[in-house]
Amino acid sequence: MSHEAFPTDNPAVVTVGLPYANGDLHVGHLRGYVTGDTVARALRRVGQQTAFVCGSDMHGTPIAVNAAKEGVSPEAFALEYHEEYAETFPKFNVEFDNYGHTHDETNVETTQEFVRSWIDGDHVVEKEIQVAYDPADDQWLPDRLVEGTCPYCGEDARGDECDEGCQRHLEPGEVEDPVSTLSGNPAEYREREHKFLRLSDFQDYLQAFIDRMDGTDNAKNQPREWIEGELQDLCITRDMDWGIDYPGEDGEGEEDLVLYVWVDAPIEYVSSTKQYTDRVGEDAFDWEEVWTVDDEDELTGEDNGEIVHVIGRDIIQHHAVFWPAMLRGAGYNEPRAILATGFVGIDGKALSTSRNRAVWADEYLDEGFHPDLFRYYMINGSGMETDVDFSWDRFAERVNGELVGNLGNFCYRSLLFAERNYDGTPDADVSDDVRERIEDAIDEFEAALNEYRVRDVGAVPIELADYGNEYIQRNEPWKLTDDDPERAAQVIRDCVQIAKAIAVLMQPVMPEKADALWAQLGEDGSVEDARLDEALDAPPATFDEPEELFGQIEDERIEELNEKLAERVEEATEDGEDDAEEANEDTMDFEPESLTDERISFDDFGDLDMRVGEIETAEPIEDSDKLARLEVDIGVETRQVVAGIKQLHDLAELPGTRVVLLANMEKAELFGVESNGMVLAAGDEADLLTTHGDAPLGSKIQ
Ligand code: MSP
Ligand code: ZN
Repeated sequence: MSHEAFPTDNPAVVTVGLPYANGDLHVGHLRGYVTGDTVARALRRVGQQTAFVCGSDMHGTPIAVNAAKEGVSPEAFALEYHEEYAETFPKFNVEFDNYGHTHDETNVETTQEFVRSWIDGDHVVEKEIQVAYDPADDQWLPDRLVEGTCPYCGEDARGDECDEGCQRHLEPGEVEDPVSTLSGNPAEYREREHKFLRLSDFQDYLQAFIDRMDGTDNAKNQPREWIEGELQDLCITRDMDWGIDYPGEDGEGEEDLVLYVWVDAPIEYVSSTKQYTDRVGEDAFDWEEVWTVDDEDELTGEDNGEIVHVIGRDIIQHHAVFWPAMLRGAGYNEPRAILATGFVGIDGKALSTSRNRAVWADEYLDEGFHPDLFRYYMINGSGMETDVDFSWDRFAERVNGELVGNLGNFCYRSLLFAERNYDGTPDADVSDDVRERIEDAIDEFEAALNEYRVRDVGAVPIELADYGNEYIQRNEPWKLTDDDPERAAQVIRDCVQIAKAIAVLMQPVMPEKADALWAQLGEDGSVEDARLDEALDAPPATFDEPEELFGQIEDERIEELNEKLAERVEEATEDGEDDAEEANEDTMDFEPESLTDERISFDDFGDLDMRVGEIETAEPIEDSDKLARLEVDIGVETRQVVAGIKQLHDLAELPGTRVVLLANMEKAELFGVESNGMVLAAGDEADLLTTHGDAPLGSKIQ
């Protein structure tokens, strides 16, 4: 450890790798967010002033491509995921002090300021380079729009990273045998002028930086290889529309060029902290104390704030090489530590959003499991750097063994005994042994945090509970209440203190469960506000009967979950299945109703006045489970109709959908709403009938 121990007199910022606003969050992403949140909480726990910030990564080629596929703007596309993430994190008790996004005004300004400083400092060079181009489609192919072979390891690679091989960042022009990922056409290399950050300016700096940086071994060691040889310049511009404009020397901007997504993404760490300061005021948290340096020659000096980055192991190079150079080039502070977690996979394979090989954030919550259980599993299921497979078996083992069987069991039996026999905390002093054991636990908590052994931070309360269980078992207070009441009171007094210390120490990993235990002890407020050494203060003299903190997860439940996951993995693995085939599979066991024998005349059919319409409004009818109120434009007029589709469709997505409306249906009133017509739909899922071409609204169906 090459820095002053936490807590220092300076504020700290903890960040986590920004999620690309490009798909739902899965358990792999959550590993980092939970780890970051735990580190931030643990730092506060030892008295370190800490801001925990993040934001959504809105730019880059995949977002632009997916938005185009959906026919929406990249901004609208990304904002939707941004909002989803902002809602999801708190459900896992991941509480950012600020959660911004890379396309917001703060980040656009801060990013352009960074780039201007590099230009002013003469760190930006222009070069003619070879950029992949699709001549058939007449289009540049930046980053993920091109794939081919990695020139370093020979594996298949995408334009800007070798994510299946050596994990290296690749510069434009490097990937061999380029093919367009958009059209599948072979690509050619064409000359184009781009801007580069001259990384070699920072070579000596980076070598010294890597030596003094703290964190996990992978983050400290892997970059050595990259910074030993000559550092290649980093191309910071791209031929795209979606991104932050390259500011140019005179602030004019440079046509057609936006900044590479990896320029503005880490700068969001700074921007997000600025936004936090804007909100709470400089006195509460001053972003400049963390991010700027008082004395450039004294980068590790005592006056600089503490920057701790938590990331997945795939983006070490960006954080340990490019980012420190970017910061240095703009006169900013450097990271104190980088913690890189291992990857989460399933059955030894990577998670995949597009193949649905994942356990999704929402899915976990929908199964009804408490977020703190997931947090515990992620933090304590393995060392931070280890790649792990998500497994419901392992999850249940942890929960049932350590949380139910050990920690929960100890707290419940201690507090129950205390409440039944003493109405709360027995009147006695904590014995020396137990006091010392708690002090040791506090010391280990601080030491583990300072060495970034996050799993060990999480293990401290478990080991304390282990000790507690052994202590209560050895002393058998239930046998002493009659024969030696004083001794019985002493033992229980000790146990209640241990339970209180557990609440204080478990809080970073399981904040909500820690609060529940805190309340059981009769304490006021949140355990979050208790200092670490309050673990040794006496709990209130009286408290109510406790409840079990954790419930056993039954084997059948786990079997069910395993089956579900196995099925999904199998589907994801079956190669060559296109979407249409998958859709067919969904409907395979559908049995259509038999046909009606009774015939109708053409005239009878003519009695039905059916029109092409377009849904203008779709909203739920409050008191009804199934019904929605629609307004449908049928050319001649707009009709209000009531339809039983509330649960079958995402109502927000319906406006704009073309439908067929039976206009001369008898009027009806449902839940007080008049229905003037009927929208036609197929089957139990109310698949809405629509038109194949664009017949004008009001056209008659005939
Ligand atoms: N947007 C970039 C990061 C920019 S940081 C300035 C990015 N986004 S991501 O959505 O792909 O990943 C977000 C975070 O989740 C990253 O820290 C990444 O390493 C992590 N993980 C993504 N998939 C993961 C697993 N399967 N397992 C563990 N962590 C994973 O990278
Ligand atoms: Zn490679």
